[in-house]
Amino acid sequence: MNAFDKFYKKTLEERRAILAEYADLTEEEQAFLASTGALSLEKANHMIENTIGIYSLPLGLSMNMRLNDKNYIVPMAMEEPSVVAAQSSGAKLIAQNGGIKGTATDRQMIGQIELIAVPDIQLAIEKITNNQEKLLLIANEAHPSLKRRGGGAVNLRVRTANTTQEETLLIVHLLVDTREAMGANMVNTMVETLAPELERLTDGIANMRILSNLVDDATATVSCRISPESLATKEQTGEWVRDRIIAAYTFADADIYRAATHNKGIMNGIDAVVMAFGNDWRAVEAASHAYVARTGSYKPMTKWSKDENGFLIGELTLPMPVAFVGGSIGVHPIATLSQKIARVESAKELAMLVCAVGLTQNLAALKALVTEGIQRGHMSLQAKSLAMTAGAEAEEIEAVATFLQESKQMNVLAAKAYIEKLRQN
Ligand code: HMG
Repeated sequence: MNAFDKFYKKTLEERRAILAEYADLTEEEQAFLASTGALSLEKANHMIENTIGIYSLPLGLSMNMRLNDKNYIVPMAMEEPSVVAAQSSGAKLIAQNGGIKGTATDRQMIGQIELIAVPDIQLAIEKITNNQEKLLLIANEAHPSLKRRGGGAVNLRVRTANTTQEETLLIVHLLVDTREAMGANMVNTMVETLAPELERLTDGIANMRILSNLVDDATATVSCRISPESLATKEQTGEWVRDRIIAAYTFADADIYRAATHNKGIMNGIDAVVMAFGNDWRAVEAASHAYVARTGSYKPMTKWSKDENGFLIGELTLPMPVAFVGGSIGVHPIATLSQKIARVESAKELAMLVCAVGLTQNLAALKALVTEGIQRGHMSLQAKSLAMTAGAEAEEIEAVATFLQESKQMNVLAAKAYIEKLRQN
């Protein structure tokens, strides 16, 4: 029997003991998990400005993830009930069908230099193209250590964009292999260093010099294939559930209002993992939403279809600018702990894992939505949060949550009334 079986039915202490053994946690790491905030106030004070304290979130483990024939226990930091359960449930279904297959491209981040008032755009493009080698050299001299680690500026692309005033902007993209880091600071240093030489070559003015979060040269792709039989419920056949999931995708593809919610469900999983790994979730959010709007209309991130044998096929490709080193990763103890728990060894592996979580989360949500509806699973797990919102003390939470579920009155008023009744007895 697997030590993680029915993990959710164990107490907090039992869960931590199982994890300590599985991940060979040190005394210090165990102490981090036993406290309400692993990050020290001293470190927090140096991380951002005007620090006054620490905002903490629950850290949960989702189960059953199988990606490229490797099993993962995935840490997730998040405040919303039912996301970790949905993740484990979707991953169980996918694992029973062979797991997720994933690939990741080489990771090239983009630095943008916007050149305005360029007198001759064509001539400028020619000059930049002819001086590519020299320009890359200048960029790499701005960050020599990256080159020593096997990365660095590797390519230049020139683009144009037209403004509403019909002015043509000249935009230079510097592509930088940032190795295991997200590399925002490295890229920004490089584009700022490169800008004067580009001004000289083009006779233009370098206005903006900053990375682009739409990192479409650092994507991860994941897919799964699920037999119809494994989708069957007590009431519906597997084929019925499969077709409804595909119809749900078709709805999101046709309607931006649905696409936004479809994608929010995907980001429920993605953000929680990105946060647990100490990464910049705003960068991942920006990249993901821009990527699915790149054709001019906003689209669902995942695609669901069926293959010639009637299996449900799920696919997801997203830019994934996640890092394995740098930023807050070395500072926040939970970030390094998450790497250890998940046994992830590189930024590319993390990128695939994050996408796998997004695909899984979407499957769980869509399956619930097209079958029993979201409220049974989601709201039953929300009952404890509602009880706390209504003011239940620790020893009252369980009883209030049970009352809310059994009476099917999922609201704060009902919880408050029940707490009052409990206290009168
Ligand atoms: P269920 O069918 O009652 O679960 O689903 P089950 O009892 O069959 O268990 C299956 C597995 O799920 C379990 O396997 C666990 O791994 C896990 P086992 O270990 O028993 O072999 N599991 C749990 N893990 C932790 N705690 C639990 C728990 N229960 C089961 N309590 C479930 C119940 C909630 C999983 C299901 O109803 C579900 O997936 N619902 C979807 C919930 C969801 O998507 N929540 C996200 C928030 S809603 C939202 O914001 C997004 C949305 O708007 C997106 C969109 O519209 O597309 C919905």
